[in-house]
Amino acid sequence: MIRVDALTVRFRTAAGLVDAVRGASFHVAAGEVFGLVGESGSGKSTILRALSGLTPVAEGSLHIAGADRDTRRRDVQMVFQDPYGSLHPRFTVDQTLREPLRINRIGDHEARIVNALREVGLNPSFRFRYPHQLSGGQRQRVAIARALIVEPRVLLLDEPTSALDVSVQAEILNLLKRLHQERNLTMILVSHNLAVVGFLCSRVAIMRNGEIVEKLSIESVRAQQVESEYSRSLLLATGGYRRKVAEAFGVDASL
Ligand SMILES: Nc1ncnc2c1ncn2[C@@H]1O[C@H](COP(=O)(O)OP(=O)(O)OP(=O)(O)O)[C@@H](O)[C@H]1O
Ligand SMILES: [Mg+2]
Repeated sequence: MIRVDALTVRFRTAAGLVDAVRGASFHVAAGEVFGLVGESGSGKSTILRALSGLTPVAEGSLHIAGADRDTRRRDVQMVFQDPYGSLHPRFTVDQTLREPLRINRIGDHEARIVNALREVGLNPSFRFRYPHQLSGGQRQRVAIARALIVEPRVLLLDEPTSALDVSVQAEILNLLKRLHQERNLTMILVSHNLAVVGFLCSRVAIMRNGEIVEKLSIESVRAQQVESEYSRSLLLATGGYRRKVAEAFGVDASL
């Protein structure tokens, strides 16, 4: 469904050209959830931005099955880390959900909006609220509804739960898991947290300094069968947090 080959993304900065992503390659099968993990600045968001067409590709290629330049805007949707910043503060939920329908020339707004809210577990009465009248978790549900309302084939999730309390994180992750199962969506999930990734993903790529250092099945991550020292240090770094997360998500605490 998604194929990324030797992708390099280059930015012009005051200090000259910087490769934010260097020679990254991976593929994601239709209906698979793939994880991207790595320290801050390693290039995770840049890969998602390139996939959604927000950032140009300098070298290499990326391919999304069936999507061309014109349909990519609808087929590939993104959910961002910060549900405060990503929703327009002066738009009601209704306006927020109506906008992508209008842009993509999709009809039947009323039914789709009510349906989208129900799918993310929000009562239709939330339609006329503004973002400041919602909790962080409710905002992220609205952001997910906004992404799904155009029926994309690929959902890119950039740290969708890291701004939320652990218990709310668990709710949102369970919601994403259910949506993935119901819709057979292809997803890429970016997270600092291996426990979060392990809950949803079947495979992960570990990134560092713009490069993919290792690709692992989630079973290898669980068994701590990692090759690079860096992946091992990431596993250890999530250790302090993992029990709390494992309890909240009901996942394997050994992760
Ligand atoms: N528009 C831009 N112009 C210049 N440099 C950029 C731009 N966007 C990102 N970068 C740089 O590219 C590198 C990778 O950034 P990116 O946002 O992809 O990292 P990340 O892995 O998502 O980090 P985080 O976990 O903190 O979100 C960083 O060094 C960043 O400063
Ligand atoms: Mg990022």
